[in-house]
This record gives sequence, C-alpha cells and structure tokens, in this order.
Amino acid sequence: MTRDPLRNVSRRRFLAVGGGALAAVGASRLALPALATPTGVASWSAQRRVGQAGPGSSIELRAEEVTIDLAGRSATTWGYNGTVPGPLVRVRAGDTLRATVVNNVEDPTTIHWHGIRLVNAMDGVPDVTQPAIAPGGEFSYEFVVPDPGTFFFHPHVGLQLDRGLYAPLVVDDPNEVGAYDAEWILVLDDWTDGVGRSPDAIFEGLRDMASMTDGGGGHGGPVGGHSAPSQADHGGGDDSGAGMAMPTGESRLLGGHAGDVDHPIYLINGRPPKDPETFTATVGHRVRLRIINAGADTAFRFAVGGHRLTVTHADGFPIDPVEADAVLLGMGERIDAVVTVADGAAPVVARAEGKSGDARAVLRGSTTGRAPGPGTRVAELAGRVLTVHEMRAASAVRLADRPIDRRHRLRLDGNHERYRWTINGRVFDHSDEGLPIEAGERVRLIFDNRSTMWHPMHLHGHTFAVEGDGARKDTVVVKPGGRVSVDFDADNAGTWMVHCHNGYHQEAGMMAAVAYR
Ligand code: C2O
Ligand code: CU
Repeated sequence: MTRDPLRNVSRRRFLAVGGGALAAVGASRLALPALATPTGVASWSAQRRVGQAGPGSSIELRAEEVTIDLAGRSATTWGYNGTVPGPLVRVRAGDTLRATVVNNVEDPTTIHWHGIRLVNAMDGVPDVTQPAIAPGGEFSYEFVVPDPGTFFFHPHVGLQLDRGLYAPLVVDDPNEVGAYDAEWILVLDDWTDGVGRSPDAIFEGLRDMASMTDGGGGHGGPVGGHSAPSQADHGGGDDSGAGMAMPTGESRLLGGHAGDVDHPIYLINGRPPKDPETFTATVGHRVRLRIINAGADTAFRFAVGGHRLTVTHADGFPIDPVEADAVLLGMGERIDAVVTVADGAAPVVARAEGKSGDARAVLRGSTTGRAPGPGTRVAELAGRVLTVHEMRAASAVRLADRPIDRRHRLRLDGNHERYRWTINGRVFDHSDEGLPIEAGERVRLIFDNRSTMWHPMHLHGHTFAVEGDGARKDTVVVKPGGRVSVDFDADNAGTWMVHCHNGYHQEAGMMAAVAYR
C-alpha cells in the first residue's frame, strides 16, 4: 500500500501494480490537483509519474466483496480491488494492456473493455468470446489499445455492473496537446446494492410485475430499490409495495418514460450527495472533465453551476467543440468537456433524468467559501442541453466517404407478458450466429425503436458514425418511436455484441450479435 505524494489525503486505498508501468489508482485519486501550467501536457506528465503502460506492464483486478461508506451508511457490494469505482487504468494509445482478473466473488464474471476496439477473444462476453471466469478462478486479458479517449470497464455477466464492478479506463494520446490545465474524471452511477434491494432482486421484481400487468407497454413499470434491508435479498413474493412505489417519471429528452428502476442513491466517484468529492483548481484554469455514465437504468443530465461546458469528445472521440449548459449521458456513454474554473465552490450535478434525485460533486476555484449544500439549485440544468444529434465528429476521426455495403435493421421492442426486451423479436441466445456481415464492408445498423422506452444501444469492438457525419461513438440513445442509423467499417473480425446498455434490458435479452471472419 502506497500513498501517492501528488495527492491529498484519501480514505480509499491506492494500488499500483506492474513495476510502476501501468497506472492503477484508487477512486478518490481520480481528482488530480490543478497544475500551474498553460497546457494539458504538464498535467499528463505529472500523472505519468504514477505510471504509464508499456510492453510488459500488467495490472491485477480482483472482483471481491467491498464495503463502502455512503455518507455514514455502509453498503456491502462487489467491487474491484477494494474500491468503488475500481482503480483507474490508464495507458497510452498503442500500448498493450495486460490485466489479470481474479474472481473472488461467488458468481462467474468477466471484464468487458467498453468502447475499446480490441481483439475479439479479449472482449469479455461469456460463452461467446471466452468462458466466464469461475469463482476462485482467474483470467488474463492482453490486448493492444488502439484509440485514445475516455472509456470504462465492467463485467458482462448478469447485473454485476449495477453493483460496484466498474472503473474508468483512460487512454492517452502521446501527441495530444490538450487545451486544458487539469483533468477530473467523474464516474456517475445509480446505486441500490447494500442499501436497497439487490440488482438481482430488482430484476426478479420486474419480471413478477410484468407477469401481473396486462399490456404494460413493453415493460412492467418501475421497481424501486427502496425496501428495507431485511427484504433486500429476496426477489419476488415479498413485493408488498415497499419496493414498487415511486415510479420513475417522464423525460422530454428521453422521449417518455425514463427508467424501470428507482435507485435510492446516485453517486459520483462512489460518493453520495451528502459527502461529495471536491476538486480544487486554480481560478481561470481549464479543467477537462471526463464524465462516464456507469449506471444501469439512469440517464444523467450533467451540469456545473455557474459554468459553461465546452464539449470536446463523445465516447472518447473528438467532436467539433460545442458550448452547452448541460449534457445528457445514457448508460455506457462518455462525454469530455472543458470548464474554465470560476471563483468559489460550484455544485457539480448529475441529475437522474426523469427520476427524483441526483449525484453531486464540488468544483472549487478557491480554498475559501462555503461548499454548496446537497440541495443547491443549478440553473444550467434547465439551460441548453447538448444531445448526440448536435454533435459532429472532428475531421480527423470522420469515417472515410464510401457507399454502404450492407444494412441491418434492428427492431427494438418489449414483450408485454413478461419482462422481456427484444431485438428483431428475439431475446439473445448465446448460440445465435449473429447478423451476417463480411470483412471489409461498410455496414449500417438502423436502430428502429418500436417500444415505449428509450434504449442506449452499444456496439462492441468498433466505433460507429452516428447518422452519417455525426459523432464517432460506441453507444447511442434511441428514443421511443425513434430511429437512429450508425455506420462502421467491418475491420475487426469476430462475433460482437450489440445491445441495450440498460443492464435490466440487457439481462432480459435485449442483445444481438454481428459476426464476420
Ligand atoms: Cu458496456 Cu456490452 O457493454
Ligand atoms: Cu433498453
């Protein structure tokens, strides 16, 4: 156990593995101190003193039981290496990342490296790209990381992502000269495990409710995580209303019903609003925020009180910068935005879109001044909210112009009798061969949402262009009744999942595959 001299005091553990080569830092260390330098170069190199990946570097990630402190309330969950979020993994584009995953929990697990264009065998999809790692077992991932950007990783088994098994993965571009002075990684999450019902119990509840509902519009309605701890680990049967009140509401931005699950708490970097993480920076400095939605059922509307956001990246890839008051992130999406630090202590808010509650942090531009309380209003949330259709890929990452060789329409729907979510009428089956495509083709997927709820659709192993010349992304929000087309080049052979990143929808079958050799 080491304490990094660069950082302020941390309640969480710090872990560095691999001969100092690969950065692996505890969650609260995600907040880097601002450095008095004109560009981002110095702050990157400061972070590289923690470590950088190179040939031979490796990290160990232990999936294990973890007890976290949520403003005085303790919650036992599963996390990586004793923290929630797990350790930051940081490499340079082109490096080889080696991670040995040790499974110390009672269920099988895997790690999926969300958004990374890696070799298929390392993609972490159980029974498709590898057998799941059995309890007590381990598995070594090793792959080249081609693209810089903001990513994260999580299991691809059951509802494990809705526990604490997630962590940021940042890939630096050695040649990038960032127009910013400091960097702050913010991982957003909707939380129930250990304080409300377990994710598995919630899922059982959704199935039971669906079977009791007639034509509920493709789902059984929201289920909460608010029940007493004594009921926390029983699915079904005990739903006397405690966990089922408080339906999640409507959202104009999401085109209707916002979610299926009412999580009791929302977190930024594992901290609840009553115990927010504080990032201190020099007034006038530009801070690059790397925002990651690791939630299971919650879109977040994100803003910083008294600050404008200059949005620079979507899902890791640069866009033509856009100014906004707030941004919307579906599950699995990431946004990078730069803010110029104002004097005082500003509330940073990720409002659970269409739900009640928010996650909070504090951006401090001076060491004096009262911290904003958990109820402080943030006017920017009601301002201009940037959504994906207003983003355009930066010219360097635009797909080359060429005709579409193959189209697949993916009809997104829900089944009314059971909590079942489908793509082209089917729930995923691991023996599915996948939608056929040929290596070398330009492929267009058309997400055609016929259900009554929005879906953040995610493709593995590739990044796609949204609606022709839109942002390069790997996850895109598709509203009810809406249709979004995404294009990619079939240049990474394998069987690749395409699925809804709502953990509950995915678990209920909303997943398909595309496959080519
Ligand atoms: Cu982050 Cu298959 O997902
Ligand atoms: Cu969905």
